[in-house]
Formats: sequence, C-alpha cells, structure tokens
Amino acid sequence: MPTVKEILETMDYGPAPEASGEVTAWLAARGRFGHFINGAFTKPGETFAADNPATGEPLAEVTQGTEDDITAAVKAARKALPKWAGLSGHERAQWLYAIARHLQKRERFLSVLETLDNGKPIRESRDVDVPLAIRHFYHHAGWAELIEDEFPGHAPHGVCGQIIPWNFPLLMLAWKVAPALAAGNTVVLKPAEYTPLTALAFAEICAEVGLPKGVVNIVTGDGRTGAALVAAEVDKIAFTGSTEVGRLIRRATAGSGKALTLELGGKSPFIVFADADLDAAVEGVVDAIWFNQGQVCCAGSRILAAESVAEDFTRRLTARLAKLRVGEPLDKCTDMGAIVHPVQLARIHDLISAGEAAGARLIQAECQLPPKGSFYAPGILLDAHPANPAMVEEIFGPVATLSTFRTPDEAVELANNTRYGLSASIWSENLTLAMDIATKVKAGVVWINATNVFDAAAGFGGMRESGFGREGGREGMAAYLRRPGPKAQPEAAAGRLDAAPQTGSPAAPGIDRTAKLYIGGKQSRPDSGYSYAVTYKGREIGLAPLGNRKDIRNAVEAAHKASGWGKVTGHNRAQVLYYIAENLAARQAEFEARLHDTGHSPKEVAATIRRAFYYAAWADKFDGAVKSTKTRNVTVAMNEPWGVIGIACPDAAPLLGFASLVLPAIAMGNRVVAIPAASMPFAATDLYQVFDTSDLPGGVVNIVTGPRDELAKTLAQHDDVAAMWYCGGSEGAAMVEAESAANLKATWTLPNRDWSAAQGREFLDRASQIKTIWVPYGE
Ligand code: NAI
Repeated sequence: MPTVKEILETMDYGPAPEASGEVTAWLAARGRFGHFINGAFTKPGETFAADNPATGEPLAEVTQGTEDDITAAVKAARKALPKWAGLSGHERAQWLYAIARHLQKRERFLSVLETLDNGKPIRESRDVDVPLAIRHFYHHAGWAELIEDEFPGHAPHGVCGQIIPWNFPLLMLAWKVAPALAAGNTVVLKPAEYTPLTALAFAEICAEVGLPKGVVNIVTGDGRTGAALVAAEVDKIAFTGSTEVGRLIRRATAGSGKALTLELGGKSPFIVFADADLDAAVEGVVDAIWFNQGQVCCAGSRILAAESVAEDFTRRLTARLAKLRVGEPLDKCTDMGAIVHPVQLARIHDLISAGEAAGARLIQAECQLPPKGSFYAPGILLDAHPANPAMVEEIFGPVATLSTFRTPDEAVELANNTRYGLSASIWSENLTLAMDIATKVKAGVVWINATNVFDAAAGFGGMRESGFGREGGREGMAAYLRRPGPKAQPEAAAGRLDAAPQTGSPAAPGIDRTAKLYIGGKQSRPDSGYSYAVTYKGREIGLAPLGNRKDIRNAVEAAHKASGWGKVTGHNRAQVLYYIAENLAARQAEFEARLHDTGHSPKEVAATIRRAFYYAAWADKFDGAVKSTKTRNVTVAMNEPWGVIGIACPDAAPLLGFASLVLPAIAMGNRVVAIPAASMPFAATDLYQVFDTSDLPGGVVNIVTGPRDELAKTLAQHDDVAAMWYCGGSEGAAMVEAESAANLKATWTLPNRDWSAAQGREFLDRASQIKTIWVPYGE
C-alpha cells in the first residue's frame, strides 16, 4: 500500500478493494450446487466449474441440467401454478415486495458475487446491476397490486421458461422473474453457463422468504439445457441472448402455441452531431461501449460523428480512453474489469482482427493488463467502411467503430444500415434535430444526450433482428399476460355471421366476374397469367387471379414505397377511413347482395362500415405514454407502425375478417399486403373502387389473391415485411412462424373467431411497436 506522500507525488489511485470474505465463505460452504427445484436444492449431478474471469480460478461447481431435470422443474412449476395464479394481486405483491426487501438486505453480497462470477467492476454491479434488479422487484410488486384494475380479465400464460445471458446475470433474472410472478405465472429459469451464481443465491433468497414451492425453479447448464427448456411443456419462452440462438428458438417453438419474446443482439449507433456537447458525448461513449467491457446488447458500438467535429471528437475520445483504468474488478477505482470468459475473449480478438484485416485501424488504450484472467484493452476502430465486419457484427467487447457523416439524412441512413434495431444514442444540443432523428432511427430504445439508461417503468426491447417484445413497464407486464380473448373456433364454417334473409331487391343473377390483383393502387394481372375459378355450391361464380411469389414481391415493394402513410397525422388517416366507410355505405346494398348470393352474411357489410368508423376514431387516439422513470427525464413511449405487415385473412367472413385485420393495421400507419379469403376473394377485390375513391394512397393496401399458405410463405420469408398476421389452420400457422425466423419478424397467428366482435386495443397493440425515447433535462 503506498503512503499518502507517495500518492501525492504520483497522484495515482491506491488500491481500494471491496471485501469479498463473506462471499468466498458462502461459496466455500456450498462448493457444489444442484438445481433449485420445488423449493429445494437438488443433489449436484454432473458438474462444471463457474470460474472467476479475472483470475481464471474456479469459484464453485454447478450442475449441468439434463432433460430430466428440466422435466422435474417444469412439473414443479406446473403443480405450483393454480395456487399461485389464484392468489389475489395483493397477495402476490406481498411476495414480490418480500423478495425485493431481501435482495436489498443482501445488496453488497450480491454485488460482490456478481463481480466475482462475471468480471464486471464492483462499481457497476454495486451501482447499476443490483439496484436496478431490486427496483424491478419493487416496481412489479406494484403491478401485482394493481393487476385486477389495470389488466381486467387477463390471465397468466402459465409456466414460463426463461433463458438469460451472462452480461447482466442478476438484472436479467429480475427482468424475467419479476413480471412473470407479478402476473401469476410460475417460472423455470436457466441462467447462462458462465454466470450461474447470483441466480443460485437468488434461489436461496426465495427459500428464505418462504416463497411457495415450485413458483421459482432454477436449472443451471449450458445451451443444451436451454434447448431442453424450449422443448419442454411450457406456455411461454422468454429469451435474452444472441440473435443466432433467438432464431433457433423461434424455429423450435413454431406452431407450438408457446408465447415468445426475444431480446437479442444489437449494433447500435451512437450519433454525434456537430452541435453536441462533445465532452458530454465523450463520457457518453464511456458508458456506451466501455461499460460492462462492452458486453451490452444495447452498446453504442457504432459511433457516427459529424465530419466537421470528428477530428476534435476523436482527439478528446482517445485522450479519455488513455485514462480508463482496467484491472481488478473488485477494486472500487476500476473502470473496466474482465471479459466474461476466455471463449468470449477469443471471439473479440477474432472480430477485431477481421475488422483490421478489412482495413480498419485500431486505437487501443495502452494500459497494463493483469497477468492472469480474461482482459482486453478498450479501444476504437477508425476508418472502417460500412461493410467491414467490425461495423456489421456484434463484437460484444470494449471496442466501437468510429466513422463520419455529413448530413442528418446520411446519419440516419448509416444508423439504419444494420440488421439490428435495439437502441440508438443521439447527441445534439438541438432538440428539434435530435427528436427528428429519434423518430427516424429503427430502434426500440433511443437515448437523447444519454446512453444505457434503464428503469423498470420503461419498456426495453428491439426491432428487426434485435427481436420482439418489450420488458419493463406496462408493455413488459402485458407480455406475461393472456388477454381475455375469444375462444378459437373450428376452421370451417365458424366465425361466420348468421345469414339473414334478404330485404330489398335480390341480387342480379349474373354475378360472374374476373378480378385482378391490387398493387400500388392499381389493378394488375397476375404474373402467372392464370386465374382460378371461385365456386359456390358447385357453381362457378367468377375468376380470381392466381398470385405467386413475384406478385407478392411486387406488392411488398409497392407497400414499401408508400412509407409516407406512416408519417401523416392520425387525423388524416382517420379522414381516409371515414371516407372508406362512407363510400362503402353508398354501395351497401350491392355488397350485401353479393355476399348473400355466395352464402355469406350480408350483415358483414354494415359491420365493416362500423369497423372503418371505429378505427377512424382510434387513428388519432391510440396514445403513447410518458413513463415515471428517473428524475429529470422525460421518458416517452411512442406507438410506431411496423412498416409493412403481411396479412393472411380468414376464410370465414370474407369481408369482415379482411376489414377487421386490414383496417387497424392501416389506422396505425402501416402498409399491408393482404391475402383475402380464397373461397370468396371478391369480398376484398370488390373494395378496389372504394379504396380508389376514398383517397387511400396507392400502396397502402395491396391485395394478392391465390393459395393462402403459399403466398403467406413468401410474405413470411420476405426481409422487407416487418410483421406477419396469419389466420388459418395450425399447419399454416406453424409454417409462418418458422419461416419468419429468417428476419425475426413478429408474427401473430390468430385462430378463427367470431369476427363480429373482433375489434379493440388488441388489434392496435398488434399493429404497433413501442419506441421508448429518453430525454434528460436540466442544466
Ligand atoms: P448465447 O445466445 O449462446 O447464450 C445466451 C443464453 O442462451 C445462455 O443461457 C445459453 O446457455 C443459452 N443457449 C445457448 N444455446 C441455446 C439453445 N440452442 N437453446 C436455448 N438456449 C440456448 O450467447 P453466447 O454464446 O454466450 O454469446 C455469443 C454472442 O451472443 C456474444 O458474443 C454476443 O454477441 C451475443 N450475446 C448477446 C446478448 C444480448 O444480451 N443481446 C447476451 C449474450 C450474448
């Protein structure tokens, strides 16, 4: 230990280690861990070591979970479910509150354990991870208390399988477990193989507070254990981790009926405008990419600096880089600790080498790395072109690329030049500009003049290949609840409105017709040149185009071009919807007669007119929210349209089913490519004139008739389709979910239902995704 005199001479920090005796004693007393199943620890099975990444030495042995272990855990969770779900919200709130209190009592212990197991600096586990985890349990104790008021009629999913990564072990556990329990679910959680220890300590806390047996079960192990959990008899899977594994899980759960949320990787832009407070932005980079050794899904890993300040900014940044203290994670003066595991360290080395080989220049802090353990000196990569692997791949290490832009438009273009869409950080003293960019970047979370700020009350989650679903806030709670939905109806005949006797003049007998496709606001012939005969009671009633993949691609392109629809005001969209209602009303008798003559209920027409009114009413009222997060922060949750939604419509109720799906989608600003009922496509194709006379811009609604599942498959595979709704058989639903894994589009596979009642917030929620924008304020 240097003397005070020596310290004053060098002005260097002396060592300030956090005491770890209590934790090492706790580990020594246990040594080998089994799983936590049905309220007790099992006997350890085949074990593997949980190492301290700062030294490479083992901390404890944990059990590699087998399929049988997963089965036992799911069985325990299933058994505990009825009683837990049957408690009042207030009773569950008390349990969550008790957990929060116990976590709080063990705050320092958990911070030290986390730092030993993960390698992150104690300053972060102590000031970020553990306090946020505790906050999450308190916040969700509140949701449990309010659940009957705020989510009337909702039910828990049941047993939730939860798989978490190693970068924020206890915090990710809290993000998963707290809302699940608040909603009345029971859980089986699998922590990451590199960092299982705080989850096991959490299991002890559950036992300590006397949480009913089987409500929380923790099974340790690697990806094989995770895969077994995905395959088990659970009702929901919640996953945080790599996009690659997320895709596997999407495929594995396709058609299973399991609810799914995926929080995946990112390659988030960090945009510095010329008028930014550059010193603040430099500190922002520290928090964006050197926080948690850069092992953060929402790390600002692509710095984009305005060309006019790039040189100055880079100079300040490299000066700051040189001051980072890398080393012993338990030292309170350490800025950056150890990389979680030698495997991850090797991955970082490989990706940086690939980046350098492709022409990027690495500037790295010249710090003395500890002789043992997995350490990597922080840095930045300059001169990386947009296709450089370091600009494309998630490095998950303490290195960001830095490149430049000239105009705000170019900044947006570069920011969105990625498959991911998790977060973005925008630095400018001009709030008008910053908000403009915030609405244009494809990201679930946007921080203005800030980065990596989290709170239990704010939603967190991605767009595009960063996954779907939100954690935190009301939207996070909703993801653990099942809506009071209508019962699924059998495929055929169901959902049809009662046929009513015709009043007024009967339809003209000649109803033969030949329909066309509707793409970009124009009627067009199908690429195949073929039509198919639509029959009713064995009689041909007309010809409909046999659309194919080329038609779908054209329709998606047209929809893509109509992006202006997402930018017009809700009022303007409402006007168009009212106009659709009015124009349909003018032709009501004609539409009714056609439906009647083909065995469908003419009542569908009046119901469709009402539906257009209904969503016109909603178009400017489906508000976002301002969240109660941190002080001096406006945290906004905005409902954004997805972009292009593919919709495969139900066969039953060919007009009303179509309208019930298409209208809410366009009311929220999406463009759609719809496949109407194959058995009666004319109900939709007859609407072309209605659309044309209602000022609906071309490309907002596109209609391709033909074989539903074949066309739906092309839509599900299409990279430019952001979400996919499918109403049809279970085989088709499974296909759509599996095919959507390619670009991880959000899917909604709906059972057939009574379409006369199919309206409401559920449709609007599905038609939008929440973007959370953080705007801190104050001098
Ligand atoms: P990973 O995605 O393989 O691991 C995350 C969790 O998934 C762990 O609990 C793991 O055991 C489990 N898992 C692995 N394979 C599974 C399977 N087939 N089925 C079910 N569960 C499975 O991430 P990994 O390999 O640890 O890291 C690789 C890269 O992934 C990192 O370099 C980073 O780029 C990214 N990553 C992103 C995270 C994020 O928060 N977005 C977190 C962790 C990693």
